[in-house]
Amino acid sequence: MKTRTQYRCTKCGYVSIQWFGRCPNCESWNTLEEEEVPVKEGHRSWILPEEGVTPATPVPLSQVPMEDVSRIATGIQEVDRVLGGGLVPGSFLIVSGDPGVGKSTLLLQMAGDLARQKDRRVLYVSGEESPAQVRLRAERLGVLQERVFLLAETDIRRILHAARKIQPSLVVVDSIQTVLDPDVPAAPGSVTQVRECGTALLQYAKQYQVTVIAVGHVTKEGNLAGPRTLEHMVDGVFYLEGDAVLGLRVLRAVKNRFGPTSEIGMLEMTGEGFRELPDATAYFVDLQQEQGVGVAVTSLLEGQRAFLVEIQALVTPTPFPVPQRTVTGFDPKRLAMLLAIADRYLGTELRKLDVFLQVLGGFRIQETAADLAILMALLSAYRRIPLPARTLFLGELDLSGTVRTIPGMERRLKEAQRVGFTRAYLPPMGKRLRIRGLRIRQVRSFQEVAEDVLA
Ligand code: TYD
Ligand code: MG
Repeated sequence: MKTRTQYRCTKCGYVSIQWFGRCPNCESWNTLEEEEVPVKEGHRSWILPEEGVTPATPVPLSQVPMEDVSRIATGIQEVDRVLGGGLVPGSFLIVSGDPGVGKSTLLLQMAGDLARQKDRRVLYVSGEESPAQVRLRAERLGVLQERVFLLAETDIRRILHAARKIQPSLVVVDSIQTVLDPDVPAAPGSVTQVRECGTALLQYAKQYQVTVIAVGHVTKEGNLAGPRTLEHMVDGVFYLEGDAVLGLRVLRAVKNRFGPTSEIGMLEMTGEGFRELPDATAYFVDLQQEQGVGVAVTSLLEGQRAFLVEIQALVTPTPFPVPQRTVTGFDPKRLAMLLAIADRYLGTELRKLDVFLQVLGGFRIQETAADLAILMALLSAYRRIPLPARTLFLGELDLSGTVRTIPGMERRLKEAQRVGFTRAYLPPMGKRLRIRGLRIRQVRSFQEVAEDVLA
């Protein structure tokens, strides 16, 4: 077969017949890699059907037969929630995340839990760790199962051969960057190898109706290492996020063909692997403790689930020429906006002070719904007056200090009521909202709230 050389960007998948130091498409440096592709010979017409091509018949959308997606529960409900109810046989998924965040741990734990179910076998392929290492971890996790089969191998042909023999329900490949097809003249982890092995795993998953989960490493910039094309090819891409010091880990879907991408799984890394956190409020908020200065509570919404988080602020005179902002778990730019709003409309001088802000427990707030609570925590710290206990603050702030409405109000409030909160400040709803035991106050501006609770 005749081949020709082309260059493909490892980051965005851009193809060029010429090598560039910088990708003309995504502008990354040194990401173009050489690859050989087959050359098609002769000129062909695409319009007239070629000889030997059988015609295809499209079906009206309404007449497409329904397919029952059967799912396999993983044994970890927080993971099932993110998957959309469990693993779909024949799907090919990628789990990604920073080194050391716990990808191997989570997948081995899943493998062990799955293999507890009758007749379910799992093939765990490790290209990074020795069998003894994996066994040691399995012992620590309490998942030393007969039906988890370990294979320390990097040759994709031998991996798939073993998979066909064992007939597992799940194949874990840790990681996609370590496997290779020896017939392809490229290094493991290169675009060509990752794509080649990805295609092979995808084909195996579909043909044998087996779920395949591969670990995919991320680059320093947070991209999935190897070609972006892998993300397009697979049925789901999941990220395991977390702080290296704190125990909280969040599993998120960035792509999921078999479920919503809005649900998150909450887990805690312990000495014996992952523990589930179905009641996140209990993890983030210490309901026994008296409320201190600079602390405010809000309710976040992730998928179907609402939970409370505690926000803590500290403001101090600065020893530096330029005041410092130290933020954990929140967007620093949005914090700057909230500080400016306070200074502009309340006459505070937060711009001259060092500001520390953190979300307790290590959660990263991505919603603007927490704006009011964050501003109240800052003002409480500034005025050195504690906010009233068991009080919830909800709402987005705009640049004029107006409190804007947010989705899922009722679910958020019910969660606060469930854990014994008695008061809530929220944006105007256009209707009266009644929740037993909660004194609800709808406010137009943050100043109204400040007058009420910090006077
Ligand atoms: P690992 O799963 O190897 O991370 P990844 O595959 O994402 O690189 O997990 C690494 C960290 O997890 C390691 O620093 C030790 C810690 N850990 C625990 O805290 N508890 C445990 O039970 C296990 C197995 C690991
Ligand atoms: Mg690992």
